[in-house]
Amino acid sequence: MVKIGSRSLQRQLFVAILLLIVPILLAAAWLGTEEFRETVEELTQQTEVTASRTAALVQRELSGFERMVGNLSVIPVVRELDGAAVQPLLSNQTRQNPALLDLALLDPGGRLVARSPSTLEKLGGWSDIASQVMQKRARVVSPLRHDRAGLAFVTIAHPINDEAGTITGVMAYHVNPQLLQDAVNQAMLPEGSVVVLSDMRGEVLARSPGDFDGRLVAASGLADGAGPPRQHDGADGVRRVIAHAPVEGGAWVITVGIPIAVAFDRTMTLWLRTVPALAVVLVGWVIVAVVYSRRLTGSLVHLETAAQRIASGDFSPIERRTMPTREFAELQSGFEAMLRRFNEARAALDAQMAEERRMRQEVESLQRQVIRQERLAAVGQLVSGVAHEINNPLQAILGFAELLQMQGELPESVKSDLLLIQKESARACGIIRNLAMFARQQTGEAEPVHLGDVIRSVAELRQRRLESENIELRIEDDSTRHVSAVLAELQQVVLNFVVNAEQAIVLSGRQPGCITIRTQDRGDRILLEVEDTGPGVAPEHEARLFQPFFTTKAVGQGTGLGLSVSYGIIDSLGGRIGYRNGAAGGAIFYFELPAAA
Ligand SMILES: Nc1ncnc2c1ncn2[C@@H]1O[C@H](COP(=O)(O)OP(=O)(O)OP(=O)(O)O)[C@@H](O)[C@H]1O
Ligand SMILES: [Mg+2]
Repeated sequence: MVKIGSRSLQRQLFVAILLLIVPILLAAAWLGTEEFRETVEELTQQTEVTASRTAALVQRELSGFERMVGNLSVIPVVRELDGAAVQPLLSNQTRQNPALLDLALLDPGGRLVARSPSTLEKLGGWSDIASQVMQKRARVVSPLRHDRAGLAFVTIAHPINDEAGTITGVMAYHVNPQLLQDAVNQAMLPEGSVVVLSDMRGEVLARSPGDFDGRLVAASGLADGAGPPRQHDGADGVRRVIAHAPVEGGAWVITVGIPIAVAFDRTMTLWLRTVPALAVVLVGWVIVAVVYSRRLTGSLVHLETAAQRIASGDFSPIERRTMPTREFAELQSGFEAMLRRFNEARAALDAQMAEERRMRQEVESLQRQVIRQERLAAVGQLVSGVAHEINNPLQAILGFAELLQMQGELPESVKSDLLLIQKESARACGIIRNLAMFARQQTGEAEPVHLGDVIRSVAELRQRRLESENIELRIEDDSTRHVSAVLAELQQVVLNFVVNAEQAIVLSGRQPGCITIRTQDRGDRILLEVEDTGPGVAPEHEARLFQPFFTTKAVGQGTGLGLSVSYGIIDSLGGRIGYRNGAAGGAIFYFELPAAA
């Protein structure tokens, strides 16, 4: 089952909008059907009113005849059934009233006393109608009849009373139904409506419109008037609301039928007028709802993305947007404040970690220095012992080799061997001297020395050689103070730095090259450094640079004692010797010595 919480806000809002539209549409549909029902009711009333009004019109026509008969019956000759005297009166009446087809006076037995000229062809049946009048003692209306020529008519007969109320005769006449048709035509009704005047047998006397061929009312059940209005399918297939009204004094019924389609059309017209307005309102409402919901969900998604970014460790500032509500704006500000705090905390943490890393490196470097110095000190002690032990036999070998050469009778080949022994012994003595110097067994008298003088003497020594190797020598002598040292020893140190630099440039083939010698006063210490444009020292060699006999040069080119001897000299003067990488990639060898007071 899908939980509500797992659906997106936009979808939920959309469903809510739809759910709100449904009742509105249902209400609109209900209003439509109500409107239809009311219109049908109106039409029903209209049929009733029209039926009564039309019945009254027909009634009025019949009342005219009744008045005419009343006027005639007060005339003595009529009462006396004086045929000759009555005849002109009757003819006069039919002339005046075109609806009157003829007018006849009958005696109570039904025999014709007088008659106006008639447009109908030879009609009988006078005695029937007279006997009906005598029986009912009231007006009698016949069903619809036709003469031999097919002309339709209705016979109406009235009793003629004398002053005592005795029926002295019967006045009968034939009426053209066309007269009734005129009354029926007067009804004002919507299109498709029909008005029918029918007699007690259901025979249609008149109807409107003339071409209506569907009988609205079943013949049976109408003689005694009309039932309540109802809906009825006519023979023309049209469903109508129908109402009846009896015509007083004639056994006739007026039936009025208005098509249900009229109610439908009227409701539709109203609907067509109302629905677009409703649709515009609904569409507008939906647009407003959708736009608003999009703004809401857009802002939510923006904040959600920001939260996910923070969760994934990205603390960069969030893009500031205009929020649709105050609550959203506050939430956004909350996110910004949170990010600021995060960043501040992280920056503080980073700084602390960097400081710790730097301290750790410093400690490690100090540890390495201590280990190196201890190792160098041990090597120095060892070397000084060995140097002392080897020096004496070497001096003996050297002395005897010299003495032997002085003997004249020696062959040339022996002499040259002795010379070789003397040279090699002298070389071994030199090495021993250097070793002893590393171990500080020999010291001269310390005196104030200016490092500038040391540099210049070294420069003089190497200038020509450097020029021939295409290496420039730069001197930046900024130191003003003196150090307390043996000049020759410092010369040896600087000379070794310069020779090493020169060899590094030449061996790597980086010519033209440059060697820079700098001096600087640094508080109560004086710094001297030699920088070259060679390849620098490989990282794996750095730790071993100042160990005796460490060399990367070919056999015969270097002994690996230069830097270890330099170390011994600087260390004995209370200074510090070291190496670092140059910014341009070359090597920088330096030493620091305390300034002389
Ligand atoms: N300027 C430099 N550039 C690159 N490597 C250097 C430099 N100076 C010294 N070295 C390295 O340090 C090693 C030790 O130098 P050191 O002066 O002690 O001995 P050496 O020069 O090899 O021999 P010696 O000086 O005894 O003739 C060298 O072999 C070389 O590998
Ligand atoms: Mg050297």
